[in-house]
Amino acid sequence: MNVSKQYLIAPNDYFNAGSASSDIKKTLKSMNFSNDLIKRISIASYEAEINIVIHSYGGFVDFKVNDTSILIQCVDSGPGIDNVELAMSPGFSTASETVRLNGFGAGMGLPNIKNSCDELTIVSDPNGTIVTMSFHRVEVSQDDSV
Ligand SMILES: Nc1ncnc2c1ncn2[C@@H]1O[C@H](COP(=O)(O)OP(=O)(O)OP(=O)(O)O)[C@@H](O)[C@H]1O
Ligand SMILES: [Mg+2]
Repeated sequence: MNVSKQYLIAPNDYFNAGSASSDIKKTLKSMNFSNDLIKRISIASYEAEINIVIHSYGGFVDFKVNDTSILIQCVDSGPGIDNVELAMSPGFSTASETVRLNGFGAGMGLPNIKNSCDELTIVSDPNGTIVTMSFHRVEVSQDDSV
């Protein structure tokens, strides 16, 4: 089965933060994917969604399942990441005090995304950031899934 869904992500909306990745997880669980794959996608999509909420002016998450892979693209409208390589290093964070009080800002989101995806590309400038994550489909046979 193939899927195509989009979720709008509002900036600073801590109440709904994580709802897109929850729906992605729920959708994948209704399909026949391995638990390890679902776990990796859940981690990566959650971290990328939260980054839109806490660091950006807002954006959207595009989720697609095709015959060979699962693609999640997170797009926002700025202010962009100054230095993507630096931002990828564990512990690096520019999170504000408010963000930290809400429990985010350990600087581990991008490193966790990197470890969870099969392929990752990040393109960023002051007009916005596009995080593209892909995962190879790993299905379990009906017998294994019970
Ligand atoms: N979508 C984005 N727009 C602008 N800056 C971003 C975006 N995503 C990440 N960043 C920058 O990269 C840094 C590192 O991101 P990362 O997700 O690793 O850590 P964090 O969000 O600060 O903390 P954590 O993810 O552990 O809660 C952020 O602090 C921020 O400066
Ligand atoms: Mg983060």
